Amino acid sequence: MSDSSIDSLREQFGRELASAASEADLRAIRDRYLSRKGGLLSALLKALGTAAASERPRLGQLANTLKKEIEQQLDERIAAAASTRAPRGAVDITLPGRRPAVGHSHPLSILRERIESIFTRMGFLVIEGPELEDDYHNFEALNMPPEHPARDMQDTLYLSSPMRSSAGSPATLLRTHTSGMQIRYMETHEPPVRLIAPGRVYRRDNLDLTHTPMFTQVEGLVVGEHVALSDLKGTLDVFVRELFGQERKVRFRPSFFPYTEPSAEVDISCAACGGNGCGMCKRTGWIEILGSGMVHPAVFESVGYDPEKYTGFAFGMGIERIALLKWGVEDIRLFYENDLRFLEQFPQ
Ligand code: DAH
Repeated sequence: MSDSSIDSLREQFGRELASAASEADLRAIRDRYLSRKGGLLSALLKALGTAAASERPRLGQLANTLKKEIEQQLDERIAAAASTRAPRGAVDITLPGRRPAVGHSHPLSILRERIESIFTRMGFLVIEGPELEDDYHNFEALNMPPEHPARDMQDTLYLSSPMRSSAGSPATLLRTHTSGMQIRYMETHEPPVRLIAPGRVYRRDNLDLTHTPMFTQVEGLVVGEHVALSDLKGTLDVFVRELFGQERKVRFRPSFFPYTEPSAEVDISCAACGGNGCGMCKRTGWIEILGSGMVHPAVFESVGYDPEKYTGFAFGMGIERIALLKWGVEDIRLFYENDLRFLEQFPQ
């Protein structure tokens, strides 16, 4: 025990204190210097016995002064460190921010808006109408009188008896297609007509990979004095290429709908195989996307348009079906299950 051993301990402490970076470091230093058993200061004081008897009081005082210095400095530093410590549960402002989830459109809405935008740029009006429909607008005025076999093409959900009562009150139903909007619009407007009518439709179908009892259609109708089949082809050709890409080919295949004559189903070349034939397109190279045709004269008669004067074309497509094809989704039910991990994947 000597003056120099006290000084060197003071220096050592000064260095360690200067390099302490955290409250934990400071507490470790306090243990090392001040703990009763094995602390460096206890050791120093114990070594007092080895000093000359005449020197002991002076050296003892020096050692005690050092001890007080160390205690005081450590107390100050620990108190300062503790005062900057975040209280339990507080916000740590040094953490990077979490981006708040921003809402976005449902994929079917995105697609519907795209379709509306393509047609409005071609001068089409967008209209909407009731999902609860009557037999007349859903079937009869579309050239499907009662007992017409084409009514069976769509399994209907009725809200009142499908059999007309003897009093003749018409049946109410959930519309099975948006084609009734053709009638609703033409009943109240004179030609020319150029519209699309998007909306929900309902059928008695069981849920599976490609069917839901509620789905979305877009109806189209153009009526004027010289509207021709070539206008239908041109319009749908533009539409398909705008939506699916310019490289897509479009094919018209003869078909039957009671409200159009002639009728055609429209196919697009299969994106999965480029038209060579694969599982997606059942080896044909083509995939059906919509029904269409020239408006049947009987439809014009039911809304009071002169079929000698006016001609028109109509088409109808299912948005879900187009979504499956466009995005390569294999199960239509995903669009209705509200799993955000699925819904977030679609480009806005
Ligand atoms: N209504 C038909 C359906 O639900 C689709 C359709 C076909 C609409 C031909 C039309 C059309 O306007 O001309 O499957």
